[in-house]
Amino acid sequence: MIYVCGIIACSSQRHQRVAPILKAGLSRLEYRGYDSVGIATLDASLIIKKDAGKLDEVDKKLVLDSLPGKIGIAHTRWATHGPPTSINAHPHVDCKEGVAVVHNGIIENYIEIKTFLISKGHAFKSDTDTEVIAHLMEHHLNEGENSLEAFRKTISSLKGTYAIALLTASDPQRIYFAKKSSPLVIGVGEGALFAASDIPAFLDQTKKVVVLRDGELGYFSSSELYIEKDGVQVKPRITTVNWTPEMAQKGGFPHFMLKEIYEQPLALENTLKIREESLEKVARLLLSSEKIVFTACGTSFHASLWGYHEFLRKLDKFILPVISSEYSHYLHLIDENTTVIAVSQSGETMDVLKFVAGVKKRDAKIVAITNVVGSSLAREASETLYMQAGPEIGVAATKTFTGQVLMMNLLSIVTQYFEGLITHQEYQKVMRSLAELPSIISRVIRTVEPRARRIANEIKRSKSAFYLARGHNIPVAMEGALKLKEIAYIHAEAYPAGESKHGPIALVEPDFPVIFVAPRDEDERRILSNVQEMKARGGKIILVTEPNSILIEHAHHSFVLPYPRSIYYRPIQNIIPLQLLSYFTATARGLDPDKPRNLAKTVTVD
Ligand code: F6R
Repeated sequence: MIYVCGIIACSSQRHQRVAPILKAGLSRLEYRGYDSVGIATLDASLIIKKDAGKLDEVDKKLVLDSLPGKIGIAHTRWATHGPPTSINAHPHVDCKEGVAVVHNGIIENYIEIKTFLISKGHAFKSDTDTEVIAHLMEHHLNEGENSLEAFRKTISSLKGTYAIALLTASDPQRIYFAKKSSPLVIGVGEGALFAASDIPAFLDQTKKVVVLRDGELGYFSSSELYIEKDGVQVKPRITTVNWTPEMAQKGGFPHFMLKEIYEQPLALENTLKIREESLEKVARLLLSSEKIVFTACGTSFHASLWGYHEFLRKLDKFILPVISSEYSHYLHLIDENTTVIAVSQSGETMDVLKFVAGVKKRDAKIVAITNVVGSSLAREASETLYMQAGPEIGVAATKTFTGQVLMMNLLSIVTQYFEGLITHQEYQKVMRSLAELPSIISRVIRTVEPRARRIANEIKRSKSAFYLARGHNIPVAMEGALKLKEIAYIHAEAYPAGESKHGPIALVEPDFPVIFVAPRDEDERRILSNVQEMKARGGKIILVTEPNSILIEHAHHSFVLPYPRSIYYRPIQNIIPLQLLSYFTATARGLDPDKPRNLAKTVTVD
């Protein structure tokens, strides 16, 4: 079994019971998976409650808050193989129920370990790889090792990826932890310490964090933190994050997705704060490279496609966008003269990390664009540009898409300046104009929301929709289509508008929604004939455009956005109505946009 999961652990002298803290942490980690949950606390002995289902459902049945104990671990799971069942839910225990463990990742050699342990008389209850960790710890404790040594030996036998938190009755004040390739951060509070897959899980308790690195393991109690790597003690690198707990909460919005759509002006403002030196370093790297390759998955790939179109129009170089999971087919093109721009909101997407690992072996330079400080991708890259969009909890990416696109634009502008394609004056003018972007986006969100809500009601029963555009607007159309698919479960297809006549138009019948991303650029006239083709077949024409467009009179509905001061505004303002349209279509269909079926926020499997 392999999982994308969230874990949280806490040891506290400050609280009567840690179970409520663990439960609150789980609710903020549900974006990592939500098909089963479990908590283990240690009081006089280990107590475990776990079951299949979302946190709220399991909590109603098992009243997770009621567990006693000042120390505990918890888990929320997302299975990719095998059924989510109570037995397979974490925490997992050893034979004597003296050890409990939660884990995110894949233990690749679990079958060998399991076979060995069965030969030693261990009995397994679940089909998971994780359970071997609890039994292996028990095995080493049985052999007379102290808890730390038993944990070290346990971890040294594991192959694969893991973020682990482990409780043992043999050492009731401590939580043991280890990390390799799956994210794990430690929170350092007053009289309470935490470990979690992500910072928002304990952000209401502390802002002081230690981002663990691969190969680190250790333990913490309510007042002590010990970390080591390769047997040598490591001094904790404590940093203070500036996210407020409110930023990680819904802040009065019915869903994280809507909150995050509305947070875009603030997120863009933060992205704009990036230090010019960081952009300059990357720009010089790009200009010194023969080839530039963009790689990413999903929404981040759409942002990369925008970057690809932008750089292709400006630079005379070999430039290629590659979906990360397809990397093996492109490796031969990548060498020491290539810079790879790897884009990932989480910085933990396994497909992206594998791509990066593969091209590093070919001596390519890696630039990361990510939202998560200290993420695996950031650590692999020689240069990292942080979007600073704040935590994104909704499974559907929104504010991180616009942050990524803005970052591409900033990078493009600086690169053009260094290449001598624009003067210093032009450079300053366009940079200054971007400062106005957040307030313009804020206005766009507020003005398009009522229309998006109305149109969503009209299209909510549609089975399918087209998103059409030309040239560099195509990535925005693709992103709009992905949003509708993933949260409203309506089939949506994006393609270059001129392709309709080559097949797709056969699907169009009365009321079939056709959404055009058609700002007033050089393609406006050519889009007109595509609009007319669709309208003649009864298609419901929904337009994203700008004032005085010749297309408006042919459309059933138009989102008329401000004529932009700079072309760099366009992809960012054009996606807003499409994000809102998907959101309201999902809610009009009675769906929860924050938890789309079959999806997890961070995909740490390939
Ligand atoms: C869609 C969505 C996904 C992610 C993709 C990559 O709304 O969120 O398509 O964009 O899984 O994730 P990151 O950017 O974390 O690498």
